Amino acid sequence: PSTNLALCVTTDDFEAPAKEVLSEKSWVYVSSSASSGLSLKANLDDWSRINFRPRIMRSVSSINTNRAILGQTSQLPFFVSAMGTLGNAHPGAEPLLARGSTRKGLHMVVSTATSKPLEEIMDAHQEEQNILKNQSPSKLAFQLYVPVDRSKALSLIRRVKAAGYQSLWITVDTSVLGKRTADRYLQAQEALDQGAKERETAAENEFSPAFGGRPVPGYLDPGLSWEDLAWIKQEWSGPIVLKGIQTVEDVKIAVEYGVQGVLLSNHGGRQIHSAPSALMTLLEIRTYYPEALDKLEVFLDGGLRDGADVLKALCLGATAVGVGRPYFYAMAAYGMEGIEKCTDVLAEEVEITMKMLGVSSLDQLRPEMVNTTRLLND
Ligand code: FNR
Repeated sequence: PSTNLALCVTTDDFEAPAKEVLSEKSWVYVSSSASSGLSLKANLDDWSRINFRPRIMRSVSSINTNRAILGQTSQLPFFVSAMGTLGNAHPGAEPLLARGSTRKGLHMVVSTATSKPLEEIMDAHQEEQNILKNQSPSKLAFQLYVPVDRSKALSLIRRVKAAGYQSLWITVDTSVLGKRTADRYLQAQEALDQGAKERETAAENEFSPAFGGRPVPGYLDPGLSWEDLAWIKQEWSGPIVLKGIQTVEDVKIAVEYGVQGVLLSNHGGRQIHSAPSALMTLLEIRTYYPEALDKLEVFLDGGLRDGADVLKALCLGATAVGVGRPYFYAMAAYGMEGIEKCTDVLAEEVEITMKMLGVSSLDQLRPEMVNTTRLLND
C-alpha cells in the first residue's frame, strides 16, 4: 500500500490501505453490510453515544490489562472475532493471524469458513507458542456454523476437539445469509459482464477454499433450534458460547440451556437489517435481566474501533469484546506487522484510557463510569 505502516495510528487507518491492495471482490465482501447499512452504522455510532465519567487522582502508575475469558487469561480484554475468507486478505491466512494473536497474548476465534484446515491453524499457533517458550496465554476457539448434514457436524466437532480448540462458539444468527447489498451489485455486474453462468456447483457446496471460504447456500441449517444444543453438548464437553444473540429474551433461554457464554453481535451489521447494536442489547440485559451477567460470560462485538470502546463495554458488564474488520484490513495491507500494530494500537488505547479513567485493573470498571443517557433517551 502507498501508506507507510507508521502512519497507521488508529484502527481506522488500516481500512484505506487494505482497500488499495484487496481485489474488488474481497474488499466488497469484508466491508459490506446488510441492506442500506443501518445495522453497521448502529455498531459504529452507538459507541460514540455513550461517554465516560472519568475519576481522578486514583494512583494509576502501574496497571494490569489481563482478563480471563472462559477461564483462560488473555493479556488484553479483547479477542479476534471469527472471520471467514481470511485467505483473501493474505496468503498466510488464518495461520498468520493465529501467530500474530499468540505473539500478543490474545485469543482468536477461528471461523468454520477458513481457507486452511483447522488443524494447520492450530499447528501454527502451537509453533508460535514453542517459539515463545509457551509464555503466551493465547488460545484458539472455534466458531461453528452448524451444517445441515448432522454427520458432517459431528465429524467437524470431533476434529475441533481433537485439534485442541478451547471453546466452541456456535453462530446462531445465520439461518440464512444476510442480504449484502454491495456484494449483490458486484455479482449482478459480473453476471452482466460475463453472461450469466452457474457458479455454485454441488461440489462447491461447502466452505471450501475453492469457494473463498464463504458460507454458501445449502450449508447453513435454517432448522437449527435450541434442542440441537443437546447433541452438540454430547460431542463437545468444553465451554460453549452462542454467537449472535440480540435480545434479552434469548439470553434468558441461553442461561436455561446452561451455556457458558453469549456473544452479543449483529455479525458486523452483515445479517439482519435494522439490528440492534450489541451495546443496545447489553443495555437491555442490564435493564431487564442483570443477573445474566453473573450467570454466564457476556461478550460482544461489532464496530469496536478504539480501546476506549472496549472499556465502555467492560464498564457495562461485558467480559471481553471481539474485533473483526480491523484485523482483516491490517493483515491484508501489512501482513504480520499489521496484525501486531493493530493490537498495539488497541492495547495502547486501553492502557491510556484506563489511566485517565482512574482504574489500575479491569475489575475496577463500573457501570457508573459511563453515561448512557444520550443513547437511551433518543
Ligand atoms: C465475519 N463474521 C463472521 N462471523 C461468524 O460467526 N463466522 C464467520 O465466518 C464470519 N465471517 C466474517 C467475515 C468477514 C469478512 C467479516 C467482516 C465478518 C462476523 C464477525 O465474527 C464479527 O461478528 C464482526 O466482524 C464484528 O464486527 P466488526 O468488528 O467487523 O465491526
